[in-house]
Amino acid sequence: MANLKGKVAIVTGSSRGIGRAIAVDLANQGASIVLNGRNELRLAEAKEVLLKIHDRVVTVCCDISKKGSGERLIKEAVERFGRLDFLVNNVGISSRGKVADLSLEVFEAVFSSNLMGAVNPTISAIPELRKTQGSIIFISSLAGIRGLPVLSAYCSSKMALRAVAESIRVEEKQHNIHVGLVYVGITQIEHNKEVISSDGSMITLNARDNKKVQSTGYVAKMVSRNINKRKFITTLTGIGRLNAFMAPRFPLLVEKLILKNLQKFEEKSK
Ligand SMILES: NC(=O)c1ccc[n+]([C@@H]2O[C@H](COP(=O)([O-])OP(=O)(O)OC[C@H]3O[C@@H](n4cnc5c(N)ncnc54)[C@H](OP(=O)(O)O)[C@@H]3O)[C@@H](O)[C@H]2O)c1
Repeated sequence: MANLKGKVAIVTGSSRGIGRAIAVDLANQGASIVLNGRNELRLAEAKEVLLKIHDRVVTVCCDISKKGSGERLIKEAVERFGRLDFLVNNVGISSRGKVADLSLEVFEAVFSSNLMGAVNPTISAIPELRKTQGSIIFISSLAGIRGLPVLSAYCSSKMALRAVAESIRVEEKQHNIHVGLVYVGITQIEHNKEVISSDGSMITLNARDNKKVQSTGYVAKMVSRNINKRKFITTLTGIGRLNAFMAPRFPLLVEKLILKNLQKFEEKSK
């Protein structure tokens, strides 16, 4: 564990799930925390959890994909704590459905959350992170490594994060801003997690067998490790690392494997 006392972290989408676990892990290392989410009640519950660690916790309730909210989030963090060291872009939503069945609105909603929701706070954070030589972390998914069936909107939005991360790494090299990209695998669900279905309505995912998936706490530890070691890419799970190795080198073989396991794959993504 690093000593992050005196450092300040914003985690977007941190009222529950992976985002909350990341906030807890960074707080346990001493960082002051800015929590974010759209629902006041959920945010207040998350704050209660964080306050058991220390009292340097604030909440900013806003939809981070909306114009002006990125600016507000960074401003409130700096006004309250005087600096910004880590921005963890965790907000993200998944979708289900074959391209042929998807409406344009589904793509718009997924890109709004996953791409705009990350770029929006990032733009406002960069001037502050230049001062502290801090970190911007993008929470991606193994689905961001290659296009997968029924996940096209999600996959393409997460792939876009890689391009943004690569651009910033070069642009901000002279300011020594660290940019990390974490490819997360299927993770435990602690609540009724929802995704967007092909017609735009929200569907609740089935419960997952927690023995077969990674815990939010483990994912959070890997995110902290990425930050503390100032790594570029962290890919979680063995299958994730295998996919990251194979997909660019043997794309047709990977496609064949996916086709062979299509039914199993579609079942898993429910
Ligand atoms: N869970 C997995 O298996 C998995 C696997 C790979 C990658 N990931 C990635 O990990 C990240 C977190 O996933 P998760 O499963 O923990 O998600 P989740 O359980 O759905 O939680 C999302 C969090 O973000 C908040 N949120 C959503 N949209 C927001 C917005 N526009 N503005 C502000 N807050 C917003 C939610 O609170 P409110 O709804 O109250 O706003 C909630 O706190 C995502 O980027 C996801 O793509 C997850």
